[in-house]
Amino acid sequence: MKVLVVGGGGREHAIARALSRNSDVKIFSVMANPNPGIAGLAEKVLHESETNLGKVLGFALENRVDSAIIGPEAPLEAGIVDLLEEAGIPCVGPRRAAARLETSKAFCRSLMARHGIAGCPKYRVFGDAEEAVEFIREYDGDLAIKPVGLSGGKGVRIMGEHLDQAGAAEYVRHLGKDIILEERLIGEEFTLQAFVDGSHLVPMPLVQDHKRAYPGDTGPNTGGMGSYSLPDHMLPFVSRETYEKALQIMRGVVNAMKVEGVPYKGILYGQFMNTRTGPQVIEFNARFGDPEAMNVLSLLESDLAGIVTRLIEGKLSSADVRFAPLATVCKYLVPEGYPESPKEGEPLEIGDYGDAILYYANVTRKGGHLCTASSRTLAFVGMAGTLEEAERIAETAASSVKGTVRHRSDIGTADLLRQRIAHMKEITT
Ligand code: AMP
Ligand code: GLY
Repeated sequence: MKVLVVGGGGREHAIARALSRNSDVKIFSVMANPNPGIAGLAEKVLHESETNLGKVLGFALENRVDSAIIGPEAPLEAGIVDLLEEAGIPCVGPRRAAARLETSKAFCRSLMARHGIAGCPKYRVFGDAEEAVEFIREYDGDLAIKPVGLSGGKGVRIMGEHLDQAGAAEYVRHLGKDIILEERLIGEEFTLQAFVDGSHLVPMPLVQDHKRAYPGDTGPNTGGMGSYSLPDHMLPFVSRETYEKALQIMRGVVNAMKVEGVPYKGILYGQFMNTRTGPQVIEFNARFGDPEAMNVLSLLESDLAGIVTRLIEGKLSSADVRFAPLATVCKYLVPEGYPESPKEGEPLEIGDYGDAILYYANVTRKGGHLCTASSRTLAFVGMAGTLEEAERIAETAASSVKGTVRHRSDIGTADLLRQRIAHMKEITT
């Protein structure tokens, strides 16, 4: 079986690694940046922008791939699945109209509202900045301010956290148009990802990501600095009831898409805020999370190629998908200065990383040296029977890297987990 993997980050390295555990699978890769991890697993690589759809299609046809897995959101928005499927290549990923669940926050919210799906915060969409400024002036409370379209996870500003009212008005004017304002949600975030075949949804273990750049959840938002999951695939600040509600919300969305004639197929990523009143949807993504893909795909015991086949056939069932009952901790190394002014082109040296799994992300090679590029560099995943051991494995590996890179040493620590649990208690009592 020949599978095309589109994308070249840590998430796609994790996808390729999971596929490679089946020796009958041949991997073909399209990636803009050379990822040595993916290159090492692939039969053939096309270095090309993932949104250059003509080139991607040509490569897929020339190599007669049987299916494709789309890693990032940009090619989904560009309609890569429509194009490949019309050429007879089935995909793990939604068509452009269904990907609007991620690519248009206005579509996502109005779908939830139209179908009375729980967990939709109060929101308003504005075409014009001045109307949004007026709304902010009159609104009693804090708001989340977002561009309607894609922003690489970096476009959101929260009043009371990043901005005061004057700053909010300024930011809205900076965005200019197509702005969505939502009530600010207070709680603990968690990620629920699922395989979806258009009708059936099979969940993956819960993961918690860390968006902020620096330890203690300080600094600007990033694409995600690291993440962890627990052996029972739950999180200690998410009750069984909350989990079931979140799953119901995801099922509701899959049903709604089917009813509206835009069936959703691929990976559905739900970002939830666990609030005093239960789980609320922060956003949906139409793909695996990055870093969260590295947690769940490291744990996946079932054959990913088999899941791809079942998903494409529309016959997915939970019997097809098994995850190891282990904890995972993923830590990203990023260039110093990331995300505002990353130090690019700086050499780095990877030391002895022990039992950790190494996933490459955004690196370059200069004069035989591995170097940083502008985005997240590489990640380590520790996997073990306890969170403590998984954290130790990931932390030791991350500390082995020499160069102008940094990571968050607090991710996955018992201390941070205690803070999360205490925060949740504080909110609910
Ligand atoms: P997004 O790009 O939608 O994932 O948002 C990035 C981050 O902004 C999320 O991970 C949350 O931490 C925060 N965020 C987004 N929407 C809200 C909201 N309505 N209330 C509070 N925080 C939010
Ligand atoms: N980790 C968040 C994302 O992939 O969007």
